[in-house]
Amino acid sequence: MTKSSHNILEDKLRRAMGIDLQTVGHNSLRNAIARRMRVLGIKERRQYYELTDRSAAELNELIDEVAVNETWFFRDNTPFLVLQRYARNWLKRGRGSCLRILSVPCASGEEPYSIAIALLEAGVNGLLFKIDAIDISYRALRLARRGIYGRNSFRGRNNFFQRKYFQKTKAGYVIAKHIRHPVNFVRANILDTNLPILNNRYDIIFCRNLLIYLDKDNQKLVVSILDKLLVPEGLIFTGHAEPGAFADSVFIPAPYPKAFALTRRSATDCKPDQLSCDRQVFPPPLPVQPLWFTELDAVRDLADTGQHEEAMECCEQYIRRHGPDKEAYFLMGMILADMDEPRLAIRMLKKAVYLDPDLVKAIDMLALLYKGLGDDNNYRVFKQRAQRVTARNQSAGKGK
Ligand SMILES: C[S@@+](CC[C@H](N)C(=O)[O-])C[C@H]1O[C@@H](n2cnc3c(N)ncnc32)[C@H](O)[C@@H]1O
Repeated sequence: MTKSSHNILEDKLRRAMGIDLQTVGHNSLRNAIARRMRVLGIKERRQYYELTDRSAAELNELIDEVAVNETWFFRDNTPFLVLQRYARNWLKRGRGSCLRILSVPCASGEEPYSIAIALLEAGVNGLLFKIDAIDISYRALRLARRGIYGRNSFRGRNNFFQRKYFQKTKAGYVIAKHIRHPVNFVRANILDTNLPILNNRYDIIFCRNLLIYLDKDNQKLVVSILDKLLVPEGLIFTGHAEPGAFADSVFIPAPYPKAFALTRRSATDCKPDQLSCDRQVFPPPLPVQPLWFTELDAVRDLADTGQHEEAMECCEQYIRRHGPDKEAYFLMGMILADMDEPRLAIRMLKKAVYLDPDLVKAIDMLALLYKGLGDDNNYRVFKQRAQRVTARNQSAGKGK
């Protein structure tokens, strides 16, 4: 049986991008073709197939159409916190003259710009790092170079950086010049044997949300390319569904919950199941020089990812800077409770309640902690107090 023109085009795309059409969906290719035919005013599919045979430019347009460019600033957040730690440690060790980072695929630029912001916030001078940002899509790279973003690009819980690094205009949020400066956008296919960056070596590689779209063979190929590009003690960040693509490779998971980071097997002398932060090549969390994440929302993120010490440190710094603060004390109480330190947690929560006698979430938590300690008397006192405050808040129409 001879191959249909459609199958030939599918093969061509698979070779050009490495995509697995089972994953992307055959319909999405059909829809992409239909959109291109509408744009070009072509009525017959056969005519379109012939055009992609003759024209590399049209094949690129189709790639743009098929590519999933979904991205946003500080996607997943934790990788950027781990990056900051790595960078601070790199600074401390005085290693090398420049920190080299690769973002592939970078889509419309939110990821490499987030990397630049995170590094600046971690205290790395803009002249001390370089970011190569690669994507196959011309369209995505045009947007990246333009650097103007809509609300959809800011989906995180904490968009504090928006005020600091963007200018709000009618066209959207324009990224600051000094954030653009260290980012070098390159249009390339990661699978290309003549990849223009193949001789470079990177300390950190972000390769997130690409492997999921590739077939098994191309996943393997990308992993081997990343192996070539990464320095021996470097770190790779993947998307949350992607660490599996590194099974049976030289990489093993790095011990950072929710960061989906990998390091080389040879970079550590212990087995994966023995891995702990203090046996890693690069050390565990450094005492936190607060990030721009001095905002308590981001401290919550630290606590949520099990980074209790740093979260406590951030709260203390927050209080040093802003003075006694009920939310910071409340957060410290919650973190200490999580760390199984109920008595210390009670002390912090009482400080929060001292500052705001109506802070019902803290009063509730106090009741719970006393209950856990078997102190029925105090449990009842705080339980009743919580009920009184809730009733009062409700009748005054406010909830805390
Ligand atoms: C979902 S985005 C990921 C962006 C970013 N890394 C993130 O996680 O938010 C996927 C990107 O992969 C790009 N892409 C697909 N195949 C590629 C290839 N073979 N080489 C380089 N980029 C590719 C697409 O153009 C698209 O912009």
